Formats: sequence, structure tokens, C-alpha cells
Amino acid sequence: MAIATVSSRMLATAEERRTLRQFVQRVVSERGFGPDACDFTFGNPQEPPLRGLVEALIRHAEPRGVHWFAYITHNPVAREAVARSLRQARGRPYQAADIAITAGGFGALAAALLAVLEPGDEVLYPRPGWFLYGGLTRAAGGTPVPVDLVPGSFDLDLGAIAAAIGPRTRVVVVNTPHNPTGRIFPRAQLDALAGLLAEASERHGKVIYLLADEPYARIVFDGHVHISPAESYPHTLVAYSYGKVLLAPGERLGWLALCPDMPEADRVALRDAVELAQMSHGWAFAGQTLQRALPELEGLCIDVTALQRRRDRMVEGLRAAGYEVAVPEGTFYLVPHAPEADDVAFAARLAAGDVWVLPGSVAEMPGRFRISLTATDAMVERALPVFARVMRAVRG
Ligand SMILES: Cc1ncc(COP(=O)(O)O)c(C=O)c1O
Repeated sequence: MAIATVSSRMLATAEERRTLRQFVQRVVSERGFGPDACDFTFGNPQEPPLRGLVEALIRHAEPRGVHWFAYITHNPVAREAVARSLRQARGRPYQAADIAITAGGFGALAAALLAVLEPGDEVLYPRPGWFLYGGLTRAAGGTPVPVDLVPGSFDLDLGAIAAAIGPRTRVVVVNTPHNPTGRIFPRAQLDALAGLLAEASERHGKVIYLLADEPYARIVFDGHVHISPAESYPHTLVAYSYGKVLLAPGERLGWLALCPDMPEADRVALRDAVELAQMSHGWAFAGQTLQRALPELEGLCIDVTALQRRRDRMVEGLRAAGYEVAVPEGTFYLVPHAPEADDVAFAARLAAGDVWVLPGSVAEMPGRFRISLTATDAMVERALPVFARVMRAVRG
């Protein structure tokens, strides 16, 4: 009998990510980015970081006491800053004790799942969607259940969610604004989902949690307003990351907040469970320099107006070249239709012109491709003629 070298959970996640890894290995690593590459792939920064971020980190790295770098789980300064900001922005009585400071959004989602899942419990999450919901679910002992969004509109498919809920359902993930479609789910859909979850929780005799993944909450365009699912459903855990809003994903800072409308006894139990989840997951708290800097980082944000201008320029240029592309309401992604059925082959044609996009079939959107607008304006200008040339070549 063959003896497994690594856990089946990790093997399943590796399998799920196989096409993405193949794309990275075969296309990106082998060919390599040229010096003038236009990189629209993974939402990495292409410009120097915000000066305010650098200054805050330098300021708070300087110790002001012997305990500066001691073991501290959640720094009270960070917790209170998040709770204050949530109270102001959302008008709800968020409490510092209900905020866990995490290693980014990954850390917030992982802690939430570890805190509430029993082995085999099911987690419903959107497809297309962020690449690691399944992996984090398995790592926490759960069973991933992707549920398709409504094709085209990318609305929540409430009928499909209702059909997927069963006695083992423990968590439903809602990501708004949504990566990669940029959809912001309207209040009516969130209210309807809340009704459905309340009824299903009652029917199955256990709470189904809503995990609201909101790292793009502040990256919204055209006056659109992000609405948190926590406003509709009390048993909501809200996950956030500073990686997007500061465009510094390598500095790992985020939080998990318990909705203040959740019954107090449940919040008290969850506070403890979340902290233990972080600890038993390898002391997965954010570093103290970042935690101390957090109150200053709360006031910083990339230039969303400039990002919106870049989005408009890209949409206009792509449409002029014959691409079909919708205008996203938030996030920093575009998901145009690929002009040929094989989106990986199409991405390779662009890569030959040093324009790098993510093929849709590695991001659960076959027939499309994803552009991350974290590229520079100069890259957009260099890339548009390449997009036009490749479109002409495909059309023959
Ligand atoms: C929807 C979504 N959730 C969570 C994350 C994780 O964010 P971070 O890397 O800042 O932890 C990302 C990052 O791409 C994301 O797009």
C-alpha cells in the first residue's frame, strides 16, 4: 500500500490550484517578464508604496520600552482603532473586544473557519471567486461547496444557495465587492440571503454563520456604496485586509470583526475561539510594528479616483479594439471576454507582446481573462496597442 507523504487536504488544494500553478510555471517563470512588461496578473504593486505607510512603519519600529516586541496577541491600540472606524463608517456599536487583528485577509478568513467548523462541516462560497476559499476550508477540516453566481450579472444566486444548504452547512462566504467581477451586492440580495440563512439555521437547529469577505470595501467607483452583509444578518463575521487599500499585500495586516448584533453570549464564545484559532494556527497574529501603526494606516488609502480613471481608460481602449468588457463597480479587476475559446492560448499571445493577464480558466472564468488595474498608467498605454493587435490577429 502506498504511504502518503503529505496530507490529502493539501493534495486536494494543490489539485484545485494546478492550472494556476501550471500557468505561473510554464508561462510566467519560463518566459519571464521583460524589462517593459505590462503586468496585469496578480494585483501586486507596480509603483513605490504610500509614503505614509513607510513612515508609520519606521516610526513604530523604534522601541519605546523593553516590551515593545513582546508576545502580544491583539494590541489594544489596534483593536480600538478598528472598532472606532467601524462605528463611524457603519453606524453600528462595534466593540474593541470583538476585533481580532490578523495576518491580512487570509489570516482573518482562516481564523473564522477554524473557530466555527467541525470536521466535515460545509462551507459555501462563490464561484467564480478568490482562489483559496476551498483551501482554507479544507485546512480547517471543512468541506468546500462552491456555488455559482448568476452568469452574466454575477448576482448572488439565492435559489442555488438555498439548494446547496444542508444539515452540514456551517458557513456561507459572501465577498463584496467581489473579486474578480467587481460586483457590489445590493441590500435586497443581502436581506434575502439573511432571511434564507435564518430560516435554514432554524430548520437545522444550528447557527449558519455568514463570513463577509470585504478587503475591497473602500475600493468602490462611481459613487457606489459598499454594503456589509453584517447589516442584514447578526451572525456575521467580517474579514478585512489592509493589503488592497494600501496596495502593500506583503505587509500582513487585517482584522476579523464580530457583528455587534450577534447575541452577546455567542460573541463571547467566538472571541475566545478566534484567538485560540490564531494561536493554534502558528501564532497567526499580525506583527506588533504593524499593529501599532494601524491607527495611522486606517486613514491611508490608494488614490481610488486615479484607479477609476485607469479603469475607464482601459475599458474605453479595450472596447475600441473590439473586446466585450463590463464596467466593474469596485475592486481593481476587469474580466473581459477572450476573443478565442482557449483563454490560455489567448493569454500566451498577449504575453508574446509582453502583456500579462490571468487566463480565465485558471480563475474559474473560462472564456474570459482578468486584468488587474494595479498596473501603472504607462503600462496601460503600452498594452492597449498590443490588445488591439492580438484582437486583429485572432480575427484573422
Ligand atoms: C476576495 C479576497 N479575499 C481575501 C484576499 C486576501 O487578502 P490578503 O492577501 O490581503 O490577505 C484577497 C486577495 O487577493 C481577495 O481578493
